[in-house]
Amino acid sequence: MEADRLSYRYPDGRLALDNLSLNIEPGERLGIIGASGAGKSTFLLHLNGVLLPSSGAIRIAGEAVGRGNLTRIRGRVGIVFQNPDDQLFTPTVEEDVAFGPLNMGCNPAETAERVALALHQMKLEGYEKRSTHDLSFGEKRRVALATVLAMRPSVIAFDEPFANLDPAMVEQLIGVIQGLDATVVLISQEILPAIASVDRLAVFHAGKLAAVGPALEIAADRALLQRCGIDFHFYAGIWARILKPPSAP
Ligand SMILES: Nc1ncnc2c1ncn2[C@@H]1O[C@H](COP(=O)(O)OP(=O)(O)OP(=O)(O)O)[C@@H](O)[C@H]1O
Ligand SMILES: [Mg+2]
Repeated sequence: MEADRLSYRYPDGRLALDNLSLNIEPGERLGIIGASGAGKSTFLLHLNGVLLPSSGAIRIAGEAVGRGNLTRIRGRVGIVFQNPDDQLFTPTVEEDVAFGPLNMGCNPAETAERVALALHQMKLEGYEKRSTHDLSFGEKRRVALATVLAMRPSVIAFDEPFANLDPAMVEQLIGVIQGLDATVVLISQEILPAIASVDRLAVFHAGKLAAVGPALEIAADRALLQRCGIDFHFYAGIWARILKPPSAP
């Protein structure tokens, strides 16, 4: 999968992606970090043609995403949107998770098997008949994740999957992502779960690719993170103060 000199301008004239090139290897897990407004979600929406480039191209297995192949591309690339309300549209949790597999032509038995596994992965057993409308935001996010997991796409793109999840669920999701037999693209402002989930990290800054490399190397480059407005090291200072042994009298 590759972005080749990708630029995108929103209809109001704002340039959200600026000549951005990035290769993602099959089976790789790539994280994307960057300040709010850096262009992360805009990039993700290009991976299955929700947005089409203003210039440049996105290629999936050599095939440029365009109006002519959206159905095929969307069968291969699943996106978990930043806002779960954009993903969920049927009355119950079970129907929402079953929608994708049924739409892909899975028979009822296969659909039921996929729904059960996806609900299990997102710890949603017992939620089957619940109305998605009435769930908490974090619960909706888990259902949105389950809807895409149930489709078993060969590329899964997650936009802020850890937002609103409690620590136990974050840990569960990291395990699920690590176990996926898919190429993973993961946007996260939550740097630690991102580092735990991916092999490489790309840093976006003002619509451009500021850096890409092994996750731990990128995370250790404090000057880079400061330059791009995403220095997370102050969390370490807070932890150091919390864990500091009580000072001797
Ligand atoms: N529909 C839109 N119309 C005009 N500008 C937009 C639109 N959506 C996003 N933008 C602008 O494009 C830029 C990139 O937005 P994008 O949503 O990709 O950022 P992001 O990196 O995902 O940020 P966040 O971390 O807050 O989700 C921002 O300046 C944003 O204001
Ligand atoms: Mg975003």
